[in-house]
Amino acid sequence: MPVVSLKEIVDRAFRERYGVAAINVVNDLTMDAVLSAAVEQRSPVIIQTSVKTVRTVGLDLLFAMWREMTAGIEVPVCLHLDHCPDRVLLSDCLRKGWNSVLFDGSRMPVSENLRQTVDVVAEARSYGAHVEGEIEAITGVEDDIGSDEEAQRESLPVALDFIRKTGIDVFAPAIGNAHGVYRAEPQLDAQRVSDIVAAEPIPIALHGGTGMTDAQFRDLISRGCAKVNISTALKITYMKSNLAFLRDAEQRDTWDPPSLFKDVAGAVMDMAAEHMRRFGSVGKAG
Ligand code: 13P
Repeated sequence: MPVVSLKEIVDRAFRERYGVAAINVVNDLTMDAVLSAAVEQRSPVIIQTSVKTVRTVGLDLLFAMWREMTAGIEVPVCLHLDHCPDRVLLSDCLRKGWNSVLFDGSRMPVSENLRQTVDVVAEARSYGAHVEGEIEAITGVEDDIGSDEEAQRESLPVALDFIRKTGIDVFAPAIGNAHGVYRAEPQLDAQRVSDIVAAEPIPIALHGGTGMTDAQFRDLISRGCAKVNISTALKITYMKSNLAFLRDAEQRDTWDPPSLFKDVAGAVMDMAAEHMRRFGSVGKAG
């Protein structure tokens, strides 16, 4: 099973009501670790890149890593550009070979967001790629995009009109979820997912996955959240496992970079595998 489209991955998950982890990677080590976890767990996975990661690693290098690491891979995987308000970068990623993009027009009036999302869908289709859309900003700043102020939720008819007129493949509604670390258990409007899916059966993207409970994941996935975004958990795991290893290295006065990489990759793999288990996608490859 080689690299496949976002649609192929999420449509099956939506039908069978399991979630696919969409994990934001930050470099080669984390991309490789998340892909290795998917192979080990026989699970599909969506590798996400933020705009910041594309800019820091460099678009060409990031894509070359992706191509090399997924050559001959035996589980369904795809490469997704997360929250991108920048149409130029979005076009560059589609041209290069990203399988899907989230056009983030959530700071625009819905009518302008809709108009531009229609264009993005047409552009993506010309590359055989797919599009996630949103009309409300997800609360929280992630990789320099977004705001800590909770956005006003649009009505159901507005959301349905956006989904129908744009022809997007995945929809990301605001349901009380937020990027980053939750200070208290989030109060989620799960009914909003059910209302959207009942009227328009489209796979839903659940943003702000880090810190949600098993019960929340189970409930939201059963209602149609087929793509579950995880970013902060990877950042924390990556930074803390580096820190722990380096503290220990200092104690032992032993400095061997490959041992550090192996240790950190193991921690990231465990984190990714744990989310695949929690979302019910283990063994779903093939
Ligand atoms: P977290 O950072 O809360 O895991 O959210 C990730 C996300 O939604 C990326 O778009």
